[in-house]
Amino acid sequence: MSDRTLRVGLLGCGTVGTAVTRLLHDHREDIARRAGCRLEVSKIAVRDPSKRREVPVHSSAFTADPVEVVDDPAIDIVCELMGGSEPAGSLILAAFDRDKPVVTANKELLSTRGRELFDASDAKGLDLYFEAAVGGGIPLVRPLKESLTAERLTSIIGIVNGTTNYVLTRMSENGMSFAEALGEAQRLGYAEADPTADVDGHDAAAKCAILASIAFNARVVAGDVYREGIGRVTTEDIEFARRLGYVVKLLAIAELHEERVAARVHPAMIPSEHPLAAVRDAFNGVFVEGPNVGELMFYGRGAGGEPTATAVVGDLVTVARNLLAGARGVGCTCFLERTVRPMSEMEGQYYILLRVEDRPGVLAEIASVFGRNDVSIKSVWQEGTGADAQLVFITHRAREGLFQQAVTELGGVRAVEEVRSILRVEAEE
Ligand SMILES: NC(=O)c1ccc[n+]([C@@H]2O[C@H](COP(=O)([O-])OP(=O)(O)OC[C@H]3O[C@@H](n4cnc5c(N)ncnc54)[C@H](OP(=O)(O)O)[C@@H]3O)[C@@H](O)[C@H]2O)c1
Repeated sequence: MSDRTLRVGLLGCGTVGTAVTRLLHDHREDIARRAGCRLEVSKIAVRDPSKRREVPVHSSAFTADPVEVVDDPAIDIVCELMGGSEPAGSLILAAFDRDKPVVTANKELLSTRGRELFDASDAKGLDLYFEAAVGGGIPLVRPLKESLTAERLTSIIGIVNGTTNYVLTRMSENGMSFAEALGEAQRLGYAEADPTADVDGHDAAAKCAILASIAFNARVVAGDVYREGIGRVTTEDIEFARRLGYVVKLLAIAELHEERVAARVHPAMIPSEHPLAAVRDAFNGVFVEGPNVGELMFYGRGAGGEPTATAVVGDLVTVARNLLAGARGVGCTCFLERTVRPMSEMEGQYYILLRVEDRPGVLAEIASVFGRNDVSIKSVWQEGTGADAQLVFITHRAREGLFQQAVTELGGVRAVEEVRSILRVEAEE
């Protein structure tokens, strides 16, 4: 082991940053053996340096000026854990400018400005590691990027947002409404006071973009990902799903179709025997498929200070080893200019719940709309009678664009009082 100490400059010391400083301190001997040198946090930028923090770092290490951290010639590695696009993006670019490798957990930034950051790291031959940006404590980036180099992955299906998985689990297992389950998630600290990024699928879409980019060597940004949140899923949908042998999950799906990438995030029914159906509460699970390796599943805690910090520290150790060796790890692997397959071309099965007039001939009117649009019905049944009459349909595989056209046309059918719910059904027919 070298007697050298590499100095880490932290940008941010919140949930993850705090846990990173503690792990680096508590496991310093073991980390030193693996890194080949000591790793020490010597400067930390935060918004409020006067705030009391339970970290094993002297208060003099704190500053309110993140540029000071990046500029400090004594800092060898910059670790960005402040989140958001700016100033994080400019600070990472400034770190490369000063020949410092970077470790980050910032999915928002990578899923929108990944190209800019990786171009800058490539130009300087510097490491940019980001294991913690997807799946928190679950090793995903390195397995996909390095261990599976020889594989040509075909699909990734993941539960990558713990908040929404917790909410859907409580709705399924305790019969809670969406609002009740979200309230409980907030009380327990699984959901933010403003849960929009999770509930509306933005967080999952950012992770989906990163996973799709790594898996298919493509540049996929968050805006390329079709996105629907869980705000419209009802306990009624979940009950119908259960009766049919399905559970409802918010899925992030990335697939390769004729060399084009399809990426989407939406709630969906999956068979209750699918491995992802067993991913409950705030846990994450990612199911990966390829022709050689077959099926792989990654499971664990996708967020939280300590789990996420283990991924950050793992990256810091790798980056430190590379620095000592005068080498660089695997750089950007998004070298193919793949196009994104539009959602309208996606093919899938659907569940649709309609409130309808209860009279003869209604089913035939609705079936003709589906038929005209090439959507064939796999099963249908009626729930309730009179003013409460509802029809539940499960379709065979249909093209998304045609299915949506049928839904639009159903809005003009007099017998259809309301299209109450639509969910995709992810199942092998
Ligand atoms: N939390 C998780 O479970 C988790 C999981 C995976 C990935 N991540 C990612 O990890 C990153 C950090 O998340 P977190 O949960 O640790 O966030 P956090 O608790 O909100 O902490 C953010 C830290 O950055 C500091 N900061 C923010 N803006 C700043 C600025 N302009 N100048 C200086 N300091 C600034 C804050 O200072 P103050 O302390 O003074 O406010 C705070 O210390 C994010 O990119 C997030 O997406 C988090």
